[in-house]
Amino acid sequence: MAAEEKLYLYPLWLRVWHGINALGIITLIVTGISMQYASDQFSILRFDVAVNLHNVAGITVSVFYLLFFLGNLFTNNKKFYRIKSKGFGERLMKQARYYTYGMFKGETCPFPVSEKRKFNPLQKYSYVVVMYVFVPVIIVTGIALLFPELIIDEVYSLSGVMLTAVFHGIAGFLVFIFLLIHLYVASIGKSPKDNFKGIITGWHSKA
Ligand code: HEM
Repeated sequence: MAAEEKLYLYPLWLRVWHGINALGIITLIVTGISMQYASDQFSILRFDVAVNLHNVAGITVSVFYLLFFLGNLFTNNKKFYRIKSKGFGERLMKQARYYTYGMFKGETCPFPVSEKRKFNPLQKYSYVVVMYVFVPVIIVTGIALLFPELIIDEVYSLSGVMLTAVFHGIAGFLVFIFLLIHLYVASIGKSPKDNFKGIITGWHSKA
């Protein structure tokens, strides 16, 4: 039997960031939902517990975001996040067709993982949007909500704090949706467990 082919795709700093970020974001989602829907009759967590946990998880995710940002600035990992405009839509459609049709017909993946290509186009675009737009919006608005005296009082007669909270909530909701899709897509590998093992050990098993 041929030896299993494995690629070392996830260096230690990335795995540390990813693990802490995943736990932090899940804590933020649970505590965020708990605060949003807290009432006299029902709440998932006691309100003050949810607020404290949310603050601690938010600060942790923000500090570790620096590790992701600097890691992607100064190591080779940045090359996987570069988007080329030529053929952008075409690549996107090819991968979308594979996920919605080809995969179920047993076709081979149009963008197989290799040392040079860690992500397929859909993965790459979603990671770029989540990590360089949604997460930064959550961090900036979250810091502003921790120090509301920094927020402009009114924008077109709307409360600045209210608008900041709305942006914070929308970006949080979008990351929640991303996480659900991310978990599903990550289960599409050589076997459903393999990609999850990879982000813990660093080694990706080629399908
Ligand atoms: C329980 C929660 C999570 C699990 C089990 C998980 C699982 C995985 C797996 C298996 C991979 C490697 C395969 C792949 O690239 O698809 C991965 C990569 C990645 N995940 Fe997650 N993830 C979780 C949460 C998150 C969250 C909350 C974010 C961002 C907000 C995130 C962002 C990323 C990014 C950017 C990568 C690519 C890292 C790189 O190689 O440069 N993940 N995740």
